[in-house]
Amino acid sequence: MSSQRSQPAQAPGAKSKTYPVPYFTSIPGGLQPSQVISVSGTVLPNAKRFHINLLAGSDIAFHLNPRLSEKTVVRNSKIKGSWGSEEKSLPVSMPFIPGHSFKVEIICEAQCYRVALDGQHLLAYTHRLKHLPAINALEVAGDIQLTDVQV
Ligand code: GAL
Repeated sequence: MSSQRSQPAQAPGAKSKTYPVPYFTSIPGGLQPSQVISVSGTVLPNAKRFHINLLAGSDIAFHLNPRLSEKTVVRNSKIKGSWGSEEKSLPVSMPFIPGHSFKVEIICEAQCYRVALDGQHLLAYTHRLKHLPAINALEVAGDIQLTDVQV
């Protein structure tokens, strides 16, 4: 696997950049309230699932996991090797669609993450791993083409 990269691979003359998937990058200094993490991409036509993870060492502070095959968006945390309880409720039917582009913004607030999809609030996830400065890496993996990441 390649090491962390902060810039996408872009062939000379390419029309649009794409990022390698799985994609890992560090969040310098860790998270703090009001910080926004932005991930843009396109769901692959036959996608089953993808995820955006916010990491603190081997813990997954926030696992945002659209499952196209189940038409759900699973949220969870993995702390000391164990997954917690899944959060699945949504105010709308499955908003991620194979073949469609998306922009996910994860707004880190003091008590929770707020997730917006294409500029619209989608869900909130109360912090389980509460020490925000320790959450210092981002992973994006699964069945998407990744076009932009901002940390
Ligand atoms: C598991 C799955 C993991 C993760 C987790 C979230 O079943 O294998 O990848 O999505 O659910 O609760």
